[in-house]
Amino acid sequence: MNTCTASAPGKIILFGEHAVVYGQPALAAPVHDLRATAHVAPGSPGSGLSIEAPDLDQRHALAGAAAHALALTAQLVLERLGEGEPDAHITVQSDIPVAGGLGSGAAVSAALARALAAYLGRPLENAELSALVYETEKVHHGTPSGIDNTVVCYGMPVYFVRGHEPEVFHPGKPFDLLIGDTGMPSPTHETVGAVREAWQREPNMYEATFTEIGAVVEVARSAIERGQTARLGPLMAENQALLRRLRVSSPELEQLIEAALAAGAGGAKLSGGGEGGNMIALVEPETVARVRKELYRAGARRVIHTLVR
Ligand code: MEV
Repeated sequence: MNTCTASAPGKIILFGEHAVVYGQPALAAPVHDLRATAHVAPGSPGSGLSIEAPDLDQRHALAGAAAHALALTAQLVLERLGEGEPDAHITVQSDIPVAGGLGSGAAVSAALARALAAYLGRPLENAELSALVYETEKVHHGTPSGIDNTVVCYGMPVYFVRGHEPEVFHPGKPFDLLIGDTGMPSPTHETVGAVREAWQREPNMYEATFTEIGAVVEVARSAIERGQTARLGPLMAENQALLRRLRVSSPELEQLIEAALAAGAGGAKLSGGGEGGNMIALVEPETVARVRKELYRAGARRVIHTLVR
C-alpha cells in the first residue's frame, strides 16, 4: 500500500462561544497557519496498527489503547469503514498548542482519521469525518457543541447551530486577526462545566445572556458576509461584555484585550472556552506590528497572525 498524508487546521471561535452549547448560533474560522498532520505508512506483516505522536509524547498500539483519543479515532474509522486492523504505522505531528482552545485535539483526530481512511482507499466526506471526530471530542470535552470538530473538518468559516447542518459562509472581504495566547490552559470540559453549573444556579440570567449572544452572532455574520469589517469591532466588544457576564473571562485575557485596543486594534475578545487560552484582535496591515508588540508586552506567550477568508 502507498503512504498517505493528511492534515487539518486549528480553529478560532469568532463569535458565540458558550452560548452555542445552549442552541444559539456561533461563528468559527480555521487557522490554516497552525496544523495537525498525520502520515500513514505500511508496517511489516503482522505488526498491527501503531500510532506515534512525538510532539504529544505518545506512542500506542491500537490493541488495548482504546481509551486514548488517537487510538479511539483510529478504531472509529475502522468501524465506520468496516475494515480490519491494517499493518501500518501512523505518525501524528501538530503545531497547535494543546489545551489552548485552538482545537488541537479535534485537528489531531481529524488529520489521523482523514489519513487513515485515505490510506485504506476510502476517503471520508467532511460531514462523516466531523461526526467521527465529534465522538472523540465527547470523550474528552464532556458536552461540546460540535463546533470545534466542524470547523477543523470543513476547513472553512462556519455558521453553526447545534443539531443542524453547519453552514459554510464566505467573508465578503478577508480580514486580519491576531491571536494572543495567555499561556494559561483553557480545558473545554472545565469551562463548559463551570458555565453549566452557573446556568443551573441562575437560569434566567444565563439564558437571557445566551440569547443576546445569539443576536450578536447573527449581526456579525451579516457584517462579515457583506465585507463590513469596521462593524466587527463594536460587535466583538458587545460579545466580550456578555462573556464577562457569563464569568468566563480572566484578568490575563482582559489584560491582552485592553492592550490590543489601546494599540489600535479595531476590536478584541476572548476566543474559545476562556478563563485562559486565547483572545483575538481585529487588525489592519498598518496596526498589526504595534498590536503584536503590545500583546507581547502585556504578557502574551505567543501571537499568531491569521487571515479569515
Ligand atoms: C470551544 O471552542 C467553544 C465552546 O463554546 C465549547 C463548545 O462549543 O463545545 C466554549
